[in-house]
Amino acid sequence: MLTPAHIAAAIASKTKTKKKHFVAQKVKLFRASDPLLSVLMWGVNHSINELSHVQIPIMLMPDDFKAYSKIKVDNHLFNKENMPSHFKFKEYCPLVFRNLRERFSIDDQDFLNSLTRSSPMNSEAQGRSGARFHTSFDKRYVIKTISSEDVAEMHNILKKYHQFIVECHGNTLLPQFLGMYRLTVDGDETYMIVTRNVFSHRLSVYKKYDLKGSTVAREASDKEKAKELPTYKDNDFINDGQKIYIDGENKKMFLEKLRKDVEFLAQLKLMDYSLLVGIHDVERAEQEEVESEDNEAEEEGESDGGGIGTPPDSPSNTLDSTKPLSPGEFDPAIDVYAIKSNDSAPRKEIYFMAIIDILQHYDAKKKAAHAAKTVKHGAGAEISTVNPEQYSKRFYDFITTILS
Ligand SMILES: *[C@@H]1O[C@H](CO)[C@@H](O)[C@H](O)[C@H]1NC(C)=O
Ligand SMILES: *[C@@H]1O[C@H](CO)[C@@H](O)[C@H](O)[C@H]1NC(C)=O
Repeated sequence: MLTPAHIAAAIASKTKTKKKHFVAQKVKLFRASDPLLSVLMWGVNHSINELSHVQIPIMLMPDDFKAYSKIKVDNHLFNKENMPSHFKFKEYCPLVFRNLRERFSIDDQDFLNSLTRSSPMNSEAQGRSGARFHTSFDKRYVIKTISSEDVAEMHNILKKYHQFIVECHGNTLLPQFLGMYRLTVDGDETYMIVTRNVFSHRLSVYKKYDLKGSTVAREASDKEKAKELPTYKDNDFINDGQKIYIDGENKKMFLEKLRKDVEFLAQLKLMDYSLLVGIHDVERAEQEEVESEDNEAEEEGESDGGGIGTPPDSPSNTLDSTKPLSPGEFDPAIDVYAIKSNDSAPRKEIYFMAIIDILQHYDAKKKAAHAAKTVKHGAGAEISTVNPEQYSKRFYDFITTILS
């Protein structure tokens, strides 16, 4: 069913609402301010529900890495304001991504809930400019808008990536790829990929870095620095005298993973990836929480009692939070990238560190650089410098220096 076949279906509106203005909606609707997000929510709901009827195969077949499922929806009448009435939703390699989710210990129903219970939120918290980012409402997942070249590159690497994840038992700093989709609305195609959030769903990050191990043009611009949570770079890290204080055991485990990961990326001829680093300051966060509680209390006092628009099911009261966590504590099964500062650190901190933006292929880059050069002589002088092997070594070496 979900093998490389087209699933094309036209879904007619099932619910006939008589009078729009006073209908107690029993069907939960996917409302998002952005129609694309409504389509994403619809599509993920559709896909996970379909998959729940598809038996888990004993092993994945080569064809699964080329497969896709597609659905075309016409006359989707309800909720017209927020939901386009015509759209298409395509999921790439559904069985492979389901398998990956399982290997990353993500339950499909939880995944569905995270992406659909409430609309994903805009986020500029991670990654570089150009791409659009959202996080799921519970901040567990990141949804990134990618290019068709990225989709092609994902297909190129998916089999080896999957093999790698099997071999390391999901214990990696590489992005956890959880689903890849194409959404077509008004003839425009948008590609999206979902990964696990590098940062915590509940511990806020007050400072973040994107590190590559290069010092050439690796500083946050003034424009970037004016943002609420700027992305600082290698030179900023050095100039700030920033330190990552983790104990020997954590450091050893981290570097071991990092070494395997970058070797793998070099084998695939991928480069230009970054280490995303986020820092949570435990005391600072406690302080901020007290302040925001004070503010909330004041606001409530002023209004005449009505609680305004609290998001449904905020992460703190989801069913699976078994025991309340005290400040600075985290559940390593959810915040998989979190590492505590060591006992001799000047401040109690939690670090979140993982590799991002891995889809740049050396050949594609060379081609682009070459094209740039032919158009404009001398441009790209700096582009041509290193190959994937050199990149991985320089990257690894730099990261070892930030940890001590
Ligand atoms: C989600 O999918 C299920 C199964 O296909 C469907 O019954 C349900 O109506 C969908 N939810 C929404 C809000 O469309
Ligand atoms: C804590 O981290 C710092 C900086 O990395 C290091 O110098 C120190 O030895 C570490 N202490 C312990 C107890 O691991």
